[in-house]
Amino acid sequence: MNVQVYKDPAQIGKAVATLFAAQVVKNPDCILGMATGSTPLPTYGALVELYEQGVVDFSTVRSFNLDEYVGISRSHEQSYYRFMFDNLFSKINIKPENVQVPFPASENLEDDCAAYDAAIDAAGGVDLQILGIGHNGHIAFNEPASVFPFGTHIVDLTQSTIEANKRFFDSIDDVPRRAMTMGIGTIMKAREIVIVATGADKADAACAMINGPVDPQCPASVLQLHPAVTAFLDEASASRLG
Ligand code: GLP
Repeated sequence: MNVQVYKDPAQIGKAVATLFAAQVVKNPDCILGMATGSTPLPTYGALVELYEQGVVDFSTVRSFNLDEYVGISRSHEQSYYRFMFDNLFSKINIKPENVQVPFPASENLEDDCAAYDAAIDAAGGVDLQILGIGHNGHIAFNEPASVFPFGTHIVDLTQSTIEANKRFFDSIDDVPRRAMTMGIGTIMKAREIVIVATGADKADAACAMINGPVDPQCPASVLQLHPAVTAFLDEASASRLG
């Protein structure tokens, strides 16, 4: 794993946005893998700036998001669908019909999961995926487990993830308990992966991901096995690397 340490989240945002823009310039029909959470926001802000400067054109880009809560509507202000439009898609010229966010809404959620994996495969696979990391080492909503889950699936969120995400909801009772997420296998199929960790509260997770054993108890550690991963850390999240 290639590890790069930057001074602060803003600098990481610029660096990762430049990578994404370069991917689009090189291949205007590329498939981008998108993430939610607060971590990618500086990257999305910097990408919007590059778009406004005329550096990058998203008109033929397609995208797939990592995950979505089960049980809230797309218009809910905390849905990941809405998050992506509020923070990126409505500010660049990507076509709404070219973006996909998991939509766990049918009678049989397993069918939604299988259809999502099939859609990614049919599109040719993700060229460049951005990831954040949870405090417990989760990526997307792949929580610590005894095995690495392969395909897109439905998960029960852990108490630590519910606690971490309650800041976005009126109360902890409003945080959805389940989510649909790309599996570890789905994520590992991306041709290139960028994982961003910022803040002192991510230092333990970043250390376990980079220096720990490959262990499904730290889902992000699987990235050590991917041939093209760059971890972007700020000084705070890199503080335990040694
Ligand atoms: C959620 C998302 C993850 C994200 C994580 C960390 O659980 N499903 O994709 O990486 O939160 O979020 P944040 O970046 O806000 O710390």
